[in-house]
Amino acid sequence: SSILGGGSAGTIVPGTASGFPPFEFVNEQGELVGFDVDLLTAVVDETDYELGEWSDLNFDTLITALQNDQIDTIAAAMTITEGRDETIDFTDPYYDANQAVLVRENSDFRPSGTGDLADRPIGAQSGTTGESEMQALVEEGVVSESQTTAYENYVLAVQDLVNGNVDAVIVDTPVAETFVADRPVVSAFTIETGEQYGFGVRTNDDDRQQALNEGLQAVMDDGTYEELTRKWFAS
Ligand code: ARG
Repeated sequence: SSILGGGSAGTIVPGTASGFPPFEFVNEQGELVGFDVDLLTAVVDETDYELGEWSDLNFDTLITALQNDQIDTIAAAMTITEGRDETIDFTDPYYDANQAVLVRENSDFRPSGTGDLADRPIGAQSGTTGESEMQALVEEGVVSESQTTAYENYVLAVQDLVNGNVDAVIVDTPVAETFVADRPVVSAFTIETGEQYGFGVRTNDDDRQQALNEGLQAVMDDGTYEELTRKWFAS
């Protein structure tokens, strides 16, 4: 599809929210890295667009930043939901996830279902589908509103879990696995939410949406996608 190439169609300025390893995080050298960073870079490379500078924002401000033209796409492991679909559009899905419930490794609290979280302090990141699951538990009367904490990012949430300020954190399964690998936490059980991530685009931006979809298809067909999953998701 890249007949003209070299960014002749314009620029795609990407926005993300780090602290969500291995999709997007700041490494020891202070660089923004991760699966989404590599994937979007490879995808845009297949298009006539040029990739702009990454903005690292709070997750719950990404949709507004997109609508305000501050960024042109969201690459933040963002789940395609009906609610979000009313305000922005998404590319085709590129990754599947459910919600995991993380607890401290060195405690005997091992919930096996949401009912076991009754009257426990729990946390999730603000604006995420994990927070929606937490809110659902409030509505079901499992926990009270005052027992829930919405964090700016999941690194802070997991830190608070380790410190004993909350007893469980609800987070996307692939990210939970990363935290389990290098923090004293374990995944107690999974809530099957059947989520799919997509790159977010403005509703009227059919050109970028189509270009990104074609780019996604190309990196899936030529093995690049597969290579990136092997790079970022150790099994
Ligand atoms: N997939 C979840 C959602 O869309 C969590 C995404 C959080 N992403 C991030 N970069 N912090 O709500």
